[in-house]
Amino acid sequence: MSSEAYEPGRIQGLTREMIDALMAMFEKASAGAIAVDRESRITWINDSYCQLLGKRQSDIIGQPVRRIIPHSRMPEVVESGDPLLLDIMEHEGQQLVVTRLPWYDGQGDANGAIACVLYDDLQPLTPLVARYRRLHQDLQAARKALARRLRSARYSLSDFVGATPQALEVKRKARLAAGRDMPVLIRGETGTGKEVLAQAIHAASRRAENPFVAVNVAAVPETLLEAEFFGVAPGAFTGASKYRDGRFQLAHSGTLFLDEVGDMPLPMQAKLLRALQEGEVEPLGSGQVQSVDVRVIAATSRDLPAMIAAGQFRSDLYYRLNVLEILVPPLRERPADLGILCEGLLAELAGGAGPEAGITREALELLGRHSWPGNVRELRNVLERALTLAEDASVLDVRALAQALPRLGTAETGRNPGVGPGDAAALPVRPLADVLARAEADAITAALDATGGNRTRAARLLGVSRSALYERLGRMSCKPDTCPGSRTPD
Ligand SMILES: Nc1ncnc2c1ncn2[C@@H]1O[C@H](COP(=O)(O)OP(=O)(O)OP(=O)(O)O)[C@@H](O)[C@H]1O
Ligand SMILES: [Mg+2]
Repeated sequence: MSSEAYEPGRIQGLTREMIDALMAMFEKASAGAIAVDRESRITWINDSYCQLLGKRQSDIIGQPVRRIIPHSRMPEVVESGDPLLLDIMEHEGQQLVVTRLPWYDGQGDANGAIACVLYDDLQPLTPLVARYRRLHQDLQAARKALARRLRSARYSLSDFVGATPQALEVKRKARLAAGRDMPVLIRGETGTGKEVLAQAIHAASRRAENPFVAVNVAAVPETLLEAEFFGVAPGAFTGASKYRDGRFQLAHSGTLFLDEVGDMPLPMQAKLLRALQEGEVEPLGSGQVQSVDVRVIAATSRDLPAMIAAGQFRSDLYYRLNVLEILVPPLRERPADLGILCEGLLAELAGGAGPEAGITREALELLGRHSWPGNVRELRNVLERALTLAEDASVLDVRALAQALPRLGTAETGRNPGVGPGDAAALPVRPLADVLARAEADAITAALDATGGNRTRAARLLGVSRSALYERLGRMSCKPDTCPGSRTPD
């Protein structure tokens, strides 16, 4: 130690020389001691801590501390330069009482940290620890319940309605996928039930009790995708003051649903492929990798083989995701399912409140003549709309459905035929916000109809970004009046 007397405030804290002197004492008095450098890599560890961790010293030195001790808060101490004098740390079911101190170079910058395990046997601290354990258990239970609510699957396989051979084949494949822990790629047009299937596969798999985390690739701005997927370390970019988990970490031990995977930009495809191959992710700006155990289910409405041929999608990623492929047929290819789907959707729309509405045979035939570019989602919207327009809401007839179905000819102009600029007197006066929202919804519906539901191309036609289109679709889906496929016949 330095021969100079210690003067409070003269130096920022412990220096290397002080640490050298203290270490011998720490080592003797504690159940384990460890030191890390400025990058939070382990530079030294004593024998008793190695024994406690059940690892050899040679496997530990040089490793990022969190890789060896996942709940270590050493990086926080090095980063902030503030000690954590007393803390209880979980390690493989054991609770360790630890103290952590940063140490400084001559200029007063934190250069690393040391920590020692004060107690690995919590006997002397029994009353305190009992209280801590209780609080900890309550917290864990609350967290689990919240996670279950936020990240659980809402659908099971019985929610995928259909009795045609095409629908039964989809269900057979989904059941197969649920029984095996392999990547699945679900392909199909918009509204065919890809998300329903993804959730159903998770709910029937061995991961059912663990999180189901969905990320819609098309809805996340390109610049934020990496952070969204892999998480962010403090200081990675302006405003990132705290560590934030990515979707991969949130889905750990469960299922990650990559929706609209065909909309992923090429550089991000390379990063995703690496994460899937290694089973490891690196939070942005952390320089540290974390292992994740995630089952991936991907979905897309785009023609991936054609995208591969055009150089827009990586073939290696395609083969990685496409271990088992489920092709969901569009509704127009299984019109025989319309009856059973209407029955299921009308029951769902009744929501258990009173008897569900029926539908006449003629009305069903009318539905069979529509091309259903929006598939089952569109059917649901049409039925919902018809219910509000029907004179007798207990039976949907041709009249109610004819009014609810999108009318040919309106899609191109977004305007009601027969009502031109000169007919202003015939127009009902409505709040401007409603009129604008309707015009926006009509334009979006027209673009989706024109592109067969392809949102990327629809966004391009509308001259807005994909994420802007998704944001508007999200708003529209809350208002039945402005849902694509549920136009109001003014
Ligand atoms: N086979 C089905 N049986 C019952 N409901 C279905 C079926 N397919 C879709 N739906 C309903 O249609 C709506 C859209 O389904 P979902 O979100 O799964 O479609 P998607 O294929 O993921 O569409 P997108 O490509 O637009 O994201 C939901 O309300 C869902 O409940
Ligand atoms: Mg979807």
